[in-house]
Amino acid sequence: MSFLIREFSGTPEDFAAVVEIDNRCDPEHRYSVDEFRYDYENFDTKRYTLRYYLGEKDGKIVAYACYYHMPHRFHPQRFWVWIAVLPEFRGRGIGSALYARILADLKGFSAEFLHTSVRETWAESRRFLQKRGFEEVMRTWESHLDLTSFDPKPFEKYLIRAAEKGIALTTLAEEREQDPQWLSKLHELHNVLMADVPSSSPFTPLPLEEFRRRLIEHPDLLLDGYFLAKKGGEYVGESFVFQLPAEPGHLSQGFTGVRREYRGKGIAMALKLKVIAYAKAHGYNLIKTWNASTNTPMLVINEKLGFVKKPAWIEYVLSLP
Ligand SMILES: CC(C)(COP(=O)(O)OP(=O)(O)OC[C@H]1O[C@@H](n2cnc3c(N)ncnc32)[C@H](O)[C@@H]1OP(=O)(O)O)[C@@H](O)C(=O)NCCC(=O)NCCS
Repeated sequence: MSFLIREFSGTPEDFAAVVEIDNRCDPEHRYSVDEFRYDYENFDTKRYTLRYYLGEKDGKIVAYACYYHMPHRFHPQRFWVWIAVLPEFRGRGIGSALYARILADLKGFSAEFLHTSVRETWAESRRFLQKRGFEEVMRTWESHLDLTSFDPKPFEKYLIRAAEKGIALTTLAEEREQDPQWLSKLHELHNVLMADVPSSSPFTPLPLEEFRRRLIEHPDLLLDGYFLAKKGGEYVGESFVFQLPAEPGHLSQGFTGVRREYRGKGIAMALKLKVIAYAKAHGYNLIKTWNASTNTPMLVINEKLGFVKKPAWIEYVLSLP
């Protein structure tokens, strides 16, 4: 009987093993090998640190742990950490051993803050974190919209209101054809809007190239399902979705935001209605979204549209001396 911890080596077997563990640990959120490979290979390791370790029991990969800087909330001593052990291998010290491994590295980086997040229903994961001094800092509701029963009729007034205010609703697919400045304009909009999302740590804007690689060129981003609100030539709001290759029929809401000076005019609602219409027209049956429990405007919009709250995600932070 042997247990060893080794570094992730980037082989197809290692990519597949991590995804298999993730999908077994959280079957409600299914990841694909291609998604993981894209995210891993496009993480800017010149700017940020990223490291994965695998736990092998008798030659089988049964667990992994990772840590990385958070590009949207970058601070050299702030890391996201994650540990996952296959359910049938839990309770044998494997998670603790992996945690000790990454903690040694992180202390070597003089890490000050370790962030992670678990579902409120995952009692053993919460205990694991609490025993190690992690403290809850915020909650995020996951909510689902069942598209098969969604009726857009009661919401048409929002589309009319937006049109009356001179707001045009278009897609990124169209803008790329029509506006040579689309990328720099979208980059500016996205960074301005993201700064207003409630978060446990300060927002840091993404440089243009990273924005392009991580978001625009992401293979699961749907460019004709990426809606923009425009006033004249100015981009004033956005709402977009990703397909989930390992969850056929489902979409993940990427982000919705409206410039401060344009809020309260029904623009977010109009953008989300466009996304929903797109999703229905393309045969999707469910949209998943995640919103901070303190983000009242977004939660009100989603409740009005009929999104149903699921168990929340709790973000924990460990402050290291
Ligand atoms: C959330 C956000 C996109 C809303 O944009 P918006 O265009 O102002 O929203 P709308 O005008 O379409 O609001 C639609 C409905 O939401 C509700 N709502 C909007 N803002 C609200 C607020 N501050 N408090 C309570 N309800 C609010 C209203 O009921 C409104 O319906 P009504 O016009 O019929 O009264 C905007 O506040 C934003 O960009 N925030 C920062 C980015 C962000 O946090 N995005 C979500 C990340 S998960």
